[in-house]
Amino acid sequence: MTDKVNYRRLGDIAVIRIANPPVNALGQAVRAGLQDCMDRAEADDGVRAVLLVGDGRTFIAGADIREFGKPPAEPHLPDLCNRIEASPLLVVASMHGVSLGGGLEVALSAHYRVAQPSARVGLPEVHLGLIPGAGGTQRLPRVVGSGAAVDMITSGRHVGAAEALALGVVDEIREGDPEEEGLVATRALLDKGMERRPVSGLPSPAPLDWDAVYAATLKKGRGQISPAAAVRAIQASTELPFAEGLAEERRIFRELMETDQRQGMIHSFFSERAVSNLPDLRGVEPRAVGHVGVVGGGTMGAGIATAVLLAGLNVVLLEMTPEAADKARNRIAGNLAGALRRGKISQDRYDTLLSDALQTTTEYADLSQADLVIEAVFEDMAVKRDVFSELDRICRPGAVLATNTSYLDINEIAAATSRPADVIGLHFFSPAHIMKLLEVVVAEHTAPDVTATGFALGKALGKISVRAGVCDGFIGNRLLNACRTAADHMVLDGASPWAIDKALTEFGFAMGPFAVSDLAGLDIAWATRKRLAPHRDPRERVGRYPDRLCEAGHFGQKTGRGFYLYEDGMRAGTPNSDVTGFIEAERAELGIVPRDFSPDQIVARYLLAMVNEGAKLLEEGIARRPLDVDVVLVAGYGFPRYRGGPMKWADMTGLSDVLSDIRKLAEGDAWFWKPAPLLEDLVREGRSFEALNG
Ligand code: 3HC
Ligand code: NAI
Repeated sequence: MTDKVNYRRLGDIAVIRIANPPVNALGQAVRAGLQDCMDRAEADDGVRAVLLVGDGRTFIAGADIREFGKPPAEPHLPDLCNRIEASPLLVVASMHGVSLGGGLEVALSAHYRVAQPSARVGLPEVHLGLIPGAGGTQRLPRVVGSGAAVDMITSGRHVGAAEALALGVVDEIREGDPEEEGLVATRALLDKGMERRPVSGLPSPAPLDWDAVYAATLKKGRGQISPAAAVRAIQASTELPFAEGLAEERRIFRELMETDQRQGMIHSFFSERAVSNLPDLRGVEPRAVGHVGVVGGGTMGAGIATAVLLAGLNVVLLEMTPEAADKARNRIAGNLAGALRRGKISQDRYDTLLSDALQTTTEYADLSQADLVIEAVFEDMAVKRDVFSELDRICRPGAVLATNTSYLDINEIAAATSRPADVIGLHFFSPAHIMKLLEVVVAEHTAPDVTATGFALGKALGKISVRAGVCDGFIGNRLLNACRTAADHMVLDGASPWAIDKALTEFGFAMGPFAVSDLAGLDIAWATRKRLAPHRDPRERVGRYPDRLCEAGHFGQKTGRGFYLYEDGMRAGTPNSDVTGFIEAERAELGIVPRDFSPDQIVARYLLAMVNEGAKLLEEGIARRPLDVDVVLVAGYGFPRYRGGPMKWADMTGLSDVLSDIRKLAEGDAWFWKPAPLLEDLVREGRSFEALNG
C-alpha cells in the first residue's frame, strides 16, 4: 500500500480510496497501491465487496501523462484492470468529477458503476496521440456497442452522466457524497445477491463496415493518426476473443507511443496549461471585473462582447452612431443565436443576455463604471489615441484599459492616457467568441495586477491566454508575417500560391496562408505593407503581386475575389487565374526564372521562417518561452496540434539540421534568412528549445 491509496473496511465492504491530487492520475504509486489494496481486500476475512472512490475533485483523470515516454514501471495498468475485473469480490466504482482514459478503464473493470449527476466520463487518449491502452477499446464497445464506442473514442469527448447512463457506461446515478452513495449502492447489490459481471465476459459487439469507418476517420483527422488507429483497435473487439483484442490494443498503443504525434500532442497538453503559469504573477491579485466596456462593435468588438456576455459579465458597447450601435447589437444577437443553435445557451439565457446584460450606447459617459474596457476600433493609431484619451477622461480610477490592436505600438497608445500602468493589450482572434487564443500583451508600464487581470479575464472567457511583449504583431502576427514572407518569396521564385496552400494543409494546417489572407481581407495586409514601406531596409525583398490584386479592388472573400474566386456565399474558393498574370509579370520584371518547389521544400521553408523568427522573439523577450510561441501558433493560427507547434517541430527535427538549412537559404537571401543568434547558441551548446521551457 502507498499513501496515495487508502484502505478502510466498513463491515463486509472494503473502501479503496485513491488520493493523488490534483486529479488522481494513475502513476506507478497509485497502481501499486490499488493492487495492494485489492490483495488486502481479498485476504480480509468477511469482505464481500470493494468500493473504489476518488479523493478530492475527481474519480481518476487517467494514466499519469508525465510517465509517458519513460520506461513503463510495474504494475502495468492493463494488468491491474484485468486483476480488478477478475477479483472474486464484487467491485463497484463510485464516480464523481471526471473518469477519463485509464480512469474510465479502471471503472469499466469494476462490476458496477455509480455516478454523480455532474460526473463526466470519456476516453480522450486520441488527443494525446494515443488510443486507450488499458482495455478501453475492448471493454467500452462490449458495453455501448461498436458505433457508440467509435464515436466516444475517436472524438475523445467527455460524456455527461445522463448520457453515460443511457449508453450503459454507468449503471446508476446517485447524488450526494461519492463514498456514501457508493456504499448505499454496494450494500443494495449485496443484499440483492448481485453476481460479479465482468465486462470482458460480455458478447463481442456487432461489426461495422470497418474499412469505411477507418477511411472516414482518417480523413476527418486531417493527418492525425490516432483516431483512425483507434478504429482498428475497436474493430479487434468485434473480431477477436477478449485477450487477443487486448493484445492488439496494446500493440497499437505501443506503436503510437513512439510517434512524433504523441510527443507533439502531449507537449501541447502541458504547454496549454503552462502558458498561464507565470512566476512573476504568483501572488498578484487580479482586479475585480464585473462590468466590461467594449469600444467599437465591428467584427471584433461584437465577437468580444459576445464572449464576455457568454462568460456571465455585463457589457456596455460604444459605437460612433446609433445606426452602428444597432448593427453591433444585431451582430452580437447573431453570434448568440449561433450559441443557442449549438445548445450552448437556452432561449431564456439568450433573451436575458440581450435585454439585461448588454447595453449599447454612443456616449462615453456610459463607460464610467466599467471595470475593464476593451477597444476594438479601426486599426489606426490616431483613432486609437483619441479613444484612449477619452477613456482616460471618463473611466473610473483603477479601470483596466485594453486594446485589441493587431499590430500597433501599445506603448504609444498608453501614452495617450495619464495612466499607462492600467493599459494592456488583449489581442483576440476572429471570431472572438469562438477562437481559443488570447494574447495578453504587456506594455512597458503595464502594472502586474493589470496583467493578472488580463489572464483572469481570459480564464473566465474560457480562453488559452499567452503573455506577449510589444512589437509589430506581438507573437502570432509577427510569426505569420515571417512565414508569409517566405511564402511570397517562394511564389516569386516559382511556386504557385495554391501549391503552397495545398502543401501546408497536407502538413496539417487548418488553412494555407493565401486562403487565410482571403479570409482576413487582403486590404489589411496591404495597409500594413504601406505603413511599413517607409521604414523598410532596401535589402528586404517584398513581393508586389498582392498589391496588384488590391489595386484591382480584390480584397478576398469580402469582394468574392482574391487568391481564390468565391461563388456567391461559398467559403471555399477556386484558384483565381488573374493572380498568375500578376505573378508572371513581376517575375519578368525582376528577371526571375521560375523553379520547382516540392511540397516538402515548401513546408520546410515555411516552418524554418517561423522557427527563426520565433527564436528572435525569444531573444527580444517578446515571448518568454518556446512553449508560448507553440501555443500561440496551435491555438490561434491553425498549426496542427499533433505537431506540437513550430518550436517543438524544430526540436524534433533537430536544431542543428534546422540551423544548417537556414544557413543554406541565407546564401540566397542573407537579409531574410539571417539565423537568430539564439538558435546558433543553442546549437553550439547542444541544447534544444525544450531546455528553455523551464
Ligand atoms: N496525468 C498527469 N497530470 C495530469 C493529468 C494526467 N492524466 N491530468 C491532469 N493533470 C495535471 C495538469 O497538468 C495540471 O497540472 P498543473 O497544475 O501542474 O498545471 C493539473 O493536473 C490540473 O489539471 P487542469 O489544469 O487541466 O485542471 P482542470 O480542472 O481544468 O481539468 C482534467 C482537469 C479534465 C482532468 C484535465 O486536466 C484533463 O483533461 N486531463 C487529461 C485527461 C486525459 O487525457 N486522460 C487520459 C490520460 S492517457 C491514459 O489514460 C492512457 C490509458 O488509456 C492507458
Ligand atoms: P471593423 O472595421 O469590423 O470594426 C471597427 C468598428 O469600430 C466599426 O464598427 C466602427 O464603427 C467602430 N469605430 C471606429 N471608430 C470608433 C470610435 N472612435 N468610437 C467607437 N467606435 C468606433 O474592424 P475589426 O476587424 O473589428 O477590427 C477592430 C480592431 O481589432 C482593429 O484594431 C484590428 O486590427 C483588431 N483585430 C482584428 C482582427 C480581425 O481578424 N478582424 C483580429 C484581431 C484584432
